[in-house]
Amino acid sequence: MDTVQRAIRERRSVTRVADTPVERARLNALIEAALWAPNHKLTLPWRFVVVSGDARDALGDAHADARRRLDPGLTPEGALAQRALTRRAPHIIVCAVRHPGDDPVARREDRDAVSAGIQNMLLAAHADGLGAVWRTGPFVDEPEVRAHLGCGPGEEIVGFVYVGLPDGDAPPAPPRPATADVAEWRDG
Ligand SMILES: Cc1cc2nc3c(=O)[nH]c(=O)nc-3n(C[C@H](O)[C@H](O)[C@H](O)COP(=O)(O)O)c2cc1C
Repeated sequence: MDTVQRAIRERRSVTRVADTPVERARLNALIEAALWAPNHKLTLPWRFVVVSGDARDALGDAHADARRRLDPGLTPEGALAQRALTRRAPHIIVCAVRHPGDDPVARREDRDAVSAGIQNMLLAAHADGLGAVWRTGPFVDEPEVRAHLGCGPGEEIVGFVYVGLPDGDAPPAPPRPATADVAEWRDG
């Protein structure tokens, strides 16, 4: 099996990582990989925010604020638990798409490009021995989180990529269907 096919199959969503910082150059290489994704009309629709150290708590606070508004019965312990979720990895690369216009086709294509960029990022992390998982969660579109990350009008958060050094074995691969179950072949 060739290198690319092997990397695609061996990459896993790694949720258990050590709280050890990763060198900035390695994180930067992940963002560079994202920039090589296909992008119709080369609109460069992406924006990234790398959240590390105590900045994770500020992002966690924004999540907790959103949750508190949606669930006024949330206990202080519940809010703290929500906030702590951003400490599940030493770094979170926030991947956003910027939509300059209202054209629905361009908006879809731009978001698709950012998603493709995230997959590049995950594969690059895997190739570099890093553990990474693409997370979204229920608050990705909530105003508290958007404002905290400086999202402008029309901008969307496509993913939070949690990155760190793997802590333990990679999780087993969830099964994938056989191509015969999902692909139709039309010849001639
Ligand atoms: C758009 C998107 C959102 C995701 N959000 C989460 C998430 O919030 N939490 C999580 O643990 N995994 C999340 N995942 C990762 C999937 O759960 C994971 O890809 C799936 O279980 C298959 O595992 P694998 O990536 O190891 O093949 C997300 C994946 C995608 C594409």
